[in-house]
Amino acid sequence: MLDLNKMHEYTGPIKADLDQFSAKLNDHLQGDSPLITSIARHLLKSRGKRIRPVFLFLSSRAADNFTEYSVDASLAIELIHTASLLHDDVVDESELRRGHQTVNAQWTNLISVLMGDYLFAKAFRIMVGANSLELMKAISMATQRVAVGQLRQIEETGNYDLSEQEYLSIIADKTASLFAVSCEAGPILKKRAGKERTRFADFGEKVGSAFQITDDLLDFVGDAEVTGKELGNDVLTGKVTLPLIYSLRKAGGASRREVVKLLRNGDEETFDRVYKFVTETGGIDYTYRKANELSKRGLDTIASVSDSIYFERLQDMVTFTTARRS
Ligand code: IPE
Ligand code: IPE
Ligand code: MG
Ligand code: MG
Ligand code: MG
Repeated sequence: MLDLNKMHEYTGPIKADLDQFSAKLNDHLQGDSPLITSIARHLLKSRGKRIRPVFLFLSSRAADNFTEYSVDASLAIELIHTASLLHDDVVDESELRRGHQTVNAQWTNLISVLMGDYLFAKAFRIMVGANSLELMKAISMATQRVAVGQLRQIEETGNYDLSEQEYLSIIADKTASLFAVSCEAGPILKKRAGKERTRFADFGEKVGSAFQITDDLLDFVGDAEVTGKELGNDVLTGKVTLPLIYSLRKAGGASRREVVKLLRNGDEETFDRVYKFVTETGGIDYTYRKANELSKRGLDTIASVSDSIYFERLQDMVTFTTARRS
């Protein structure tokens, strides 16, 4: 069972929004073919955290930017996120997602990719219904960034010289982009001045980066029972993430060369040995600090938002982003 309890505590004030989101998502996923229907059922059975809709609703309501189109905006973004996961699990050769078999494992890579395309198309249809050219521009741009980030990560697979700066730019594209547009959706739909829109986009960008840094950390220190994903998948598929980047830099010299050799020749003990190396050289601690620092800087950008129950819960969600275990 995934540990979603903590997050539920923070979403009380937007329960009605999330219920509407769920009902509409169910309707949209009534498939156009028996295969689509069974995959859609599989996806709904193992629903994720829905963290992007939560950020969209809380940030919109905290700044009085919730509109009749907010739920559609969140649906489009969640479907794009789900589509990107269907593609990501093919790229990462993952077999477990949300505690169940991935679509590529239960069906095939081909089906996972095409179902991803189907969900992208669905998302764009819903988005058009939100009646805002600005929102369409922002979501299209974010979707392009997801693809750029994913392709950049593929290009850098096995590059153990990847710098922290390059890593941060990749995760900003592949993950922070959808958080940024989720937080920007309120000001866009309410046609707020550029400044407010930029502030919320910056907030989402920083929290989204902190979210991916935490995900990369959980690949080392998480509990597969709780994350619903296989542990150590990044190390085993040559993904170079922040804990490793820091530790390789810190260790230097012969010990660095030894670990890189181990990573290149990967065998059954590789993950355990790399995990030990990263822990002992401070990579885990450093990564925690970095995620917390980024999310704190995110909160600073929206410090001027006036107090409300929504703003309080939004601040809790930022804490959850880096403290979460799933
Ligand atoms: C997983 O995202 C992919 C990343 C960007 C790290 P989530 O952790 O939001 O996935 P679900 O939707 O809750 O399963
Ligand atoms: C995925 O990053 C980011 C996407 C844009 C889909 P990961 O590959 O780390 O996500 P998980 O760990 O498989 O959920
Ligand atoms: Mg990936
Ligand atoms: Mg993955
Ligand atoms: Mg991951």
